[in-house]
This record gives sequence, C-alpha cells and structure tokens, in this order.
Amino acid sequence: MRIPQDKIEDIRNSTDIVDVISGYVQLKKRGRSFIGLCPFHTEKTPSFTVSPEKQIFHCFGCHKGGNVFSFLMEYKSISFIEAVQETAESAGIKLELTSDEKPGEKDKLEELYEINVFAAKFFSGMLADKGKGTKASEYLTGRNLKTKSLKSFGIGFAPDSWDNFLEHAKKGGINLDDAQTLGLLDTNDKGKKYDKFRNRIIFPIFSPNGRVIAFGGRTLENRKDIAKYLNSPESEIYQKRRSLYGLYHSKEEIRKLDRAILVEGYMDLISLFQAGIKNVVASSGTALTPEQVRLLSRYTKNILVLFDADPAGQKAAERSIEVLLKQDFAVKILTLPDGEDPDSYVTKYGKEKFLEISEKGVDFLEFLSEYFTSKGMFDDPAKETEAIRKLVETVSWISDELKRSLTIKNIAGKYKLRERLLESELDKYLKQNRVRENIQNKRENQAPALPEQAPEGPSKGKVSSVEKDIINALLECDDEIAGIIFDHFLPEEFKDDSFRKLAELIYKNFTEHTLSLPRLMEQIEDENFKKYVSSVVMNFDEISHKRWEEFTDPERIRNDKVAWSKDLVKKINLIRLSERINEINNRIAGAENDHEKLFNLFKEKKELEEEKKNIHNNDNLALY
Ligand code: UTP
Ligand code: MN
Repeated sequence: MRIPQDKIEDIRNSTDIVDVISGYVQLKKRGRSFIGLCPFHTEKTPSFTVSPEKQIFHCFGCHKGGNVFSFLMEYKSISFIEAVQETAESAGIKLELTSDEKPGEKDKLEELYEINVFAAKFFSGMLADKGKGTKASEYLTGRNLKTKSLKSFGIGFAPDSWDNFLEHAKKGGINLDDAQTLGLLDTNDKGKKYDKFRNRIIFPIFSPNGRVIAFGGRTLENRKDIAKYLNSPESEIYQKRRSLYGLYHSKEEIRKLDRAILVEGYMDLISLFQAGIKNVVASSGTALTPEQVRLLSRYTKNILVLFDADPAGQKAAERSIEVLLKQDFAVKILTLPDGEDPDSYVTKYGKEKFLEISEKGVDFLEFLSEYFTSKGMFDDPAKETEAIRKLVETVSWISDELKRSLTIKNIAGKYKLRERLLESELDKYLKQNRVRENIQNKRENQAPALPEQAPEGPSKGKVSSVEKDIINALLECDDEIAGIIFDHFLPEEFKDDSFRKLAELIYKNFTEHTLSLPRLMEQIEDENFKKYVSSVVMNFDEISHKRWEEFTDPERIRNDKVAWSKDLVKKINLIRLSERINEINNRIAGAENDHEKLFNLFKEKKELEEEKKNIHNNDNLALY
C-alpha cells in the first residue's frame, strides 16, 4: 500500500504536532516551544521539547527527535504508513490507498512485517496439517489449549525438518536474506540456508497494534542440551526490551479494569486468557525493563506481579519491583504455591480459585520481608541489617513523598526500629539515587555520534567547523538562506561524507521547491543523523528565543540568520582562497629556478591575496 507524497505533505501540513503530542504527553508552553516529560526515557525534569514553528520534537535528554509521524511511530510502535493513516484520520483527511506497489518501493519495515505474517501463516497451517501437525496438536490438547485460543494467539508449529519453511519461502518469493535477519532462517558453513525453528510450537509475538514482530518457539523435545524456547533475535521491527507478550490481546481489558497481571511465560498468559482472565501481560521470562513498564503505563498503573515460586521467578519479581516503583506503579506481588505456575494453577483449579488467590497479593514491603525471611536473613544480625537497608532502599524508589514516609513508618513499626533512624537511612538512598540519575542523565545528554571529522587536508579542522556551520544554516530549511549558500557552495564540496549526504538531500528539496524541515526529517534514514538534526534545530530555537526576548522582533531574527549565512559564505570563500594560496606556496617551493614559472605563480598569489583583502574589507561584496 502506498500513499502519494503530496498527500503525505497535505496530511502533515494540516496537522499541528503540538495537538497530536498533547494527546500523549502533558505539554507546557515555554517561550516559543512546548516542553514536557519525555515519553521515551524516564526523567523527572522535562527535556522533551516540541516546536510549533518547526513542527518537530526533540528530547534534550535522550536525543530522540523527529516530526509528527516519527513521534507516533516511536510512541505507538507502528509503521510509517500507519502513522500517516492515523494522522489523516484525526485531521479528517480521506485516504484513498493505492496498491500499485512496485517491489523495492515498499516500506522496508512493511516488507519485514509481511515476511513474519507469511511465516506465521505457514506455521499455523503446519499445526492444522493432519500429517505433520498431529504430534504438536496432541501436545497442545494435552496442555488443555482450545482451538479458539490457538487461533486467537496465532499459535503454530514448525515441523522437524531443515527446509520445510525454506522451501515454502522460496515458492512464496520471500527475500531469504530478510527472512534470515528476522531469525527464521540461518546459513550453515557451506553457505546453505536452513530453518531456524524446528520441531517447535510457535508463539507469534505481536506489537501492541497486532503486527507480528517476532516468534517464540517451544521445543517438543525433552532434552537438556537444547533451549526450551528459541526466540527471534532483535531486528528493526522487534526490540525485546520494548515488547510485552500479550499486550495486543489484553490492552483493552487492562484499561477497563485499570489493573494488569504480570506473568512470566507465553503459556501462562494464554491459559489465563482462555480461563477468562484477560488483563494479563507476560515479560517472557526476564525482569521487566523500564521500556516495558512505560508501555504498560499507558493502560494502567496497577499491577499484580505473578511469578513462579522458584528462585529464578522470585529474583525476577524482586528486580521488577524497582522499575515499577520508579514509574509510580502500585505493585502487588503474589507467590503461587510451590511448584505451580499461573498456567498450571488455573488449569488445575479454575478461574474462581485463581481470582480468589490473586486477591492475596501483598505489597512489595511484605513480599520482600517474606522473601528475606525465607532466605534466613532475619536470623543473622548482620544479614538483618542488610535486609532492612534493602527495604529502605526499595522505599527510596517510590516517587510520592507521602507514600514514602508512610511506608517508612510501617517498616519502623514492623521491625520495632526508630523512625528517625530509618529516615536518615532513607535520605542517604535518596541522595544516592539523585547522583545516579544525574550521572545517567549526563551520559544520555552527551551529544549523539556526530558525523566523522573532515579528512586530512591543508585546512583540516577549520573546514570541518565551517562545514558544520553550513549544515546548521541549511537546516533552517529556508529558501533564501539555502539559496545564498548553494550559490557558493555545492553539496559535493563537503569533505565529510555524512554532511555531504545530508546536504545533497537538502539541495534536492531546494531545487524541487519542497524544502521543509518536517519533510526533511522524514527523508533522513540514519537514526543518529535524525538525532543530530533535531538537536541542532532545537538548539537554534533556544538561541533565537533569547534574541526574541532581546528584540521582540521576529523579522530581525530572520534578518540575523540571513546575515549570518552571508557571513558563512564569506568564510567559505576565504578558506578556499587560503587553500589555493597554500597550494601555490608549495608549487613555488618546488619551482626552483624556473623563473617564468615562478613569475606566474607569484602573480597568481598576489591576485588571490588581493581578493582575500577585498573580502575582508568589504562587507557588501557583489559576492552575494
Ligand atoms: P518457563 O520455563 O517458566 O516456561 O519460562 P513456561 O512458559 O512455563 O513454558 P512451559 O509451561 O514449560 O511450556 C517462562 C518464559 O521464559 C522464556 C519464555 O518466554 C517462557 O515463556 N524462556 C524460557 C525463554 O525465552 N527461553 C528459555 O529457554 C526458557
Ligand atoms: Mn509453565
């Protein structure tokens, strides 16, 4: 499916990025921009900036930036096309979708999604296959899974073969290298491709919007030497730390009940769902990441953590508490009877019993006390101190001050300790957290990887800083400024590769009269470069904002920028002249006694020096 470029332009132009982002982030006006807490990383002071003039956003903390479409893509984990569609819808623009797609023209991500859908269909077909799928079907029936659940979760089977999927993919005209990138195929020493998933039950992993982004495959073999689960590797469409298994299926119910249950495994989630408990997500066997918690926080801030009773499960629960508390979640933790996991429990005892036990979730304080008790920590005075410190540290992660001090009171009462003592301990942790947060912010605040430095040359260093200035001026995306610069400096003159590419893109838009920053942002593919561009542009905004205060005259700011770019051109010409003079000096040194040659070289040098002087002396050269 394709949307024509002018239509995309239309949609972008009839949308205000501030309106769209306000729907997801609380924004406050500051100067000419809006600021808020960045939805892409955890922060307490806002560094997420949206510019209504430039129609782009940029976070000074994590350096994410882009236009309205990139925001939606990132925030909702959706594709470009989906972001455009969604924006069109809210702008009331009707989209007639053309499907005249030529291969190669399609969105690259779209292609990856399609391969995954192709594979998912293949796997579920294999499960339904009366011959090849029998063993797997029997296994799933044995685990009490109903056909309806298999369907709604897209469960499938990868038969025990090295080329079952490979052959099917070849017939289907699938790009095999892409399929390998997605972890469906691999290549052996002899360069032959083979199926990655073999003899495994397949669980497709969905994005919150229901796209197939990865697979988890459970082996049917009972062998110690192979992993129980094989999961797709990370790819452009799958980032493990940002995906929560089951969220696509459960998000509505979670929102409705304003409460989520967190389990560990694929099977846990599906069994609960099948039993009618539908507000569940699965972390897929690891402790929660901050990104997963942020994702979930769009639907609720109340969570019941339901991990296995085994040590690994308890450890994962303990670690999840930290990320959840730091994002203001109200956390309850439930430990199931020994040897049970949510799947086995609900299958054995049914929905009512499960709901009953899930009421018995305890708050993190109780959970940790019990956890430490079970590890014998309260029997040994040295370890007891450690346990209490750990409790106080956990309290320090609560961001609500009132909640914090109530919890401290609670601990004091429980362990018969002086409240003041705990409070001073708490203060230490709070300070520590702040220091850590600062360090982390500083680390994140370091500028993104900049394009490489200009290659060695006579005016090394000088040129690269000028090149940077030129790029910055071009990023104004102003036709007049671009005109002034391109009259004197063409993209191919950039010595730095990345700058040259960026300049070429700007030049193309300039000549086609389509120069606009939001559009440019869309055309830049390199993630680092996108970050670089949005940070440059927003920093400029900050500067011009100060000038605004100074002069209260927007025309003046523009004039300043025009004058500044003229200045730049002057600088470029001066550098060029110096370079040529240097070159001539070299040739003079090499001319030895060739008098005629020397005479000409000196003449040329003199002319160049004259020219240089002229530029220095004259502010209004015909140059411009
Ligand atoms: P479990 O070992 O608890 O498996 O791992 P399970 O989900 O209960 O599966 P069954 O009931 O034995 O069939 C919990 C989760 O950890 C991840 C998977 O997401 C799994 O669902 N995991 C586990 C892996 O990714 N790789 C592994 O090798 C094991
Ligand atoms: Mn299990």
